[in-house]
Amino acid sequence: MGSKQDTGFATRAIHAGQDADPTTGATIVPIYATSTYTQAAPGQHKGYEYSRSGNPTRTALETCLAALEGGQQGLAVAGGIAATTAVLSSLRPGDEVVASADLYGGTFRLLERVFKPWGLTARYTEDPTPAGFAPLMSPQTKLVWIETPTNPLLQILDISAIAEMAHKHGAMLAVDNTFASPYLQQPLGLGADIVVHSTTKYLGGHSDVVGGAVIGSTKILEPIKFYQNAAGGVCGPFDAYLVLRGLKTLQVRMDKHCANARQISGWLAKHPAVDKVFYPGDPAHPGYAIAQKQMLDYGGMVSLRLKGGVPAAHAFMSKIRIFSLAESLGGVESLCCHPATMTHASIPVEVRTARGVDDGLIRLSVGIEDVADLRNDLDQALKA
Ligand SMILES: Cc1ncc(COP(=O)(O)O)c(C=O)c1O
Repeated sequence: MGSKQDTGFATRAIHAGQDADPTTGATIVPIYATSTYTQAAPGQHKGYEYSRSGNPTRTALETCLAALEGGQQGLAVAGGIAATTAVLSSLRPGDEVVASADLYGGTFRLLERVFKPWGLTARYTEDPTPAGFAPLMSPQTKLVWIETPTNPLLQILDISAIAEMAHKHGAMLAVDNTFASPYLQQPLGLGADIVVHSTTKYLGGHSDVVGGAVIGSTKILEPIKFYQNAAGGVCGPFDAYLVLRGLKTLQVRMDKHCANARQISGWLAKHPAVDKVFYPGDPAHPGYAIAQKQMLDYGGMVSLRLKGGVPAAHAFMSKIRIFSLAESLGGVESLCCHPATMTHASIPVEVRTARGVDDGLIRLSVGIEDVADLRNDLDQALKA
């Protein structure tokens, strides 16, 4: 089964790109632990020459990811940040990128400290509506970069409206779909040109692999595919296997992540120690209507601030037992992240504080454990 769109999401996640192995009949795609492929005569091979250029386990993952996102092609690379690097490398010095200000700290660091010296200019809008992006667009703007929901403030951006704005200015739209996963949101179908994932998160789903992917049309991905082979930060076959294995349960895991996050966010919102909850499934969230329009559900991420400010946040983070105080998200186990010292530490303190990522902000990745246990854990930590 290739990347056909004529089957349901769960069927594609389990079968797309994963036909029985042609040589042995193995039902599960084998880990092709080989760097090279024997040729019958020079240039006579079976489609694979060298594993940086292509590996059957990676091909299976790339085909499956393309099928899930509704893209023609997928490219699996060494991490989410490697995927972002591959996309930005298809631009040229002198080009400009316009991004929403709330985004993963590593993406900001990449834009400012790797690609800025290389010749790329990035501008950031605090207002993530098309009206906020439009004044920053110039004839040199080749790419608009967004996340939605954003990391860590869980803002919701209108993908189709921003795609329209970008295209009007002759730029492409890239969406980092890591927080939503293709089960909840498919940006290509909403007009985006490129989708990027940290497969480390919901797609892998078990916090045991670091990987990334770029998905889009064959034409748009052409320079990115060239870069994948030329620069070499590919996804290895063992990692490709782990992400493929994770994808098979993506739908059931996401349903449970969403259900648990809905309950936890509602409960937190009523807790006397809690000052503010950020959760796009709350009808009072400013992005709720857009989320309803473009997402199947609201995801498993919840951010919060406590009434006691930074000291209360520190006490809370030292007391959690079932939630692990750790970077990352999207695994079956619940995680609690302190963006200021973890995922967003690479953003200068005055910049991140102005953007709302202050020292009191806490980000939860709600896992798929029993929700009563999660609630009890948060409650005992909040009492601290
Ligand atoms: C939204 C988002 N994009 C990209 C990345 C980078 O992915 P990776 O750590 O797999 O390189 C992260 C990592 O936290 C992320 O949260």
